[in-house]
Amino acid sequence: MTSRFEILHKDAAGRIGKLITRRGVVETPTVMPVINPNIQSIKPSEMQNFGAQMLITNSYIIYRNEELREKALKEGLHSLLGFEGPIMTDSGSFQLSVYGEVEITNEQIVDFQQKIGSDIVVPLDIPTPPNVTREQTEIELNTTIQRLKAAKELIKDDIMLAGPVQGSNYADLREKCARILSEINFDVYPFGAVVPLMETYRYSELVDVIISAKKGLDPSAPVHLFGAGHPMMFALAVSLGCDLFDSAAYALYAKDKRYITTTGTYHVDKLQYLPCSCPICVSYTAEKLKRASNCEELLARHNLYVTFEEIRHVKQSIKEGNLLELVEQRCRAHPRLLSALKQMYKYSDWLEQYDPVSKSTFFYCGPESSMRPEVMRFSHRLNRFSLKGKALIRASSMRIDSEFDHVLLFRPPFGAFPEELSEIYPFNTESIHIHDYESLEKAYLNVLKLIELNPDVEFTFILSERFKHPLIEKLKQVATVILNY
Ligand code: GUN
Ligand code: ZN
Repeated sequence: MTSRFEILHKDAAGRIGKLITRRGVVETPTVMPVINPNIQSIKPSEMQNFGAQMLITNSYIIYRNEELREKALKEGLHSLLGFEGPIMTDSGSFQLSVYGEVEITNEQIVDFQQKIGSDIVVPLDIPTPPNVTREQTEIELNTTIQRLKAAKELIKDDIMLAGPVQGSNYADLREKCARILSEINFDVYPFGAVVPLMETYRYSELVDVIISAKKGLDPSAPVHLFGAGHPMMFALAVSLGCDLFDSAAYALYAKDKRYITTTGTYHVDKLQYLPCSCPICVSYTAEKLKRASNCEELLARHNLYVTFEEIRHVKQSIKEGNLLELVEQRCRAHPRLLSALKQMYKYSDWLEQYDPVSKSTFFYCGPESSMRPEVMRFSHRLNRFSLKGKALIRASSMRIDSEFDHVLLFRPPFGAFPEELSEIYPFNTESIHIHDYESLEKAYLNVLKLIELNPDVEFTFILSERFKHPLIEKLKQVATVILNY
């Protein structure tokens, strides 16, 4: 079978792609607004105006309501919702996770989704939440895999089938599940049961879940992060290789009178100003918005606008090659996101495989930037420099250097590299003048490694005040260090 996902541009492990459905091509990353078949304060037919290309709804809710069920069977899902583009349908698994049971079998709900004309069908997987025993997780995972296999047998060829990756927060089970599902071959791989992690701000664990599941998949497979709809974490999730999101958040937050921004959420009563330029926010003042009789609907509209604005922002960053800069900015919105950023960079070796070798400019955004995949890559490639004789390492080109065979430039967080590379990515870094501890540490460790790799070379290192760091003492043991304070 030909692939229904094409990758066009990449940055970190993120990508801009094309998901080819039978009802048109969808550019990813994107968000599918969640449509409640019972209540719609914003009509599905309007969703395109916000930037939506594809919707998601719940086939179990349709199935349980006789009127909706008959209409969907007779006229089709697209007519029922009034939307011509691709529609993904969920299976009732989420209800299963909330209520403990559903009154339907896997075969019945897969068959129903096909019959009503769903474009992406989701089988009845079991969402095993975090903090469940390993034994229980394995039992549920086996059932999920059996159901997914059964669904694969039932599904017709032109309909896409999603294979949700489960495994609670056991990294090896997530990876194993992803590997098994890859063998079976699904069209989309949602990562399931992550809602409890997001609801409680356990973003670092979310990073672990995403990376372990990604490790088991073919990198070219499209990934959906089930239940992720807050724009605050899109950049992070995209940089880890997630392509699809679904948002009930726009409506759920509005119901709670909450106003979404890319850095967090406000209760509408707390707003004195509207920090946004969407059509709602330019035509209302904060006071008028609070008092509007349709306040909930207005909030839902604003929430959708900012959601899609952030998707465009993320896509632009991928094209420009500065997605990680955006991630580092967004992750400053909440300390738990900052923890997630640090957690993500613990996997820089993994990220490095996907991260393009050449981009525009490396922007240093803070101590975490020292852990970026580019810094890791440089460290791995230090053995590629072949040096001999005498080498001078310096931070600026002030000093006479004719007596040296090599002149290396010292630039944190990288370390020392041949001066002629200084305008080449990533050495063309825009950094701060007063280097922070982490950035100097990485740089000195790389210099020490370079010296160790070249035992016959005589190194001279000229340093000024702003490069002060405890590791200089170590350096003095293996090189001539001139302190130019
Ligand atoms: N919606 C949110 N999480 C999940 C999940 O794990 N599985 C399914 N099918 N739907 C979800
Ligand atoms: Zn707005």
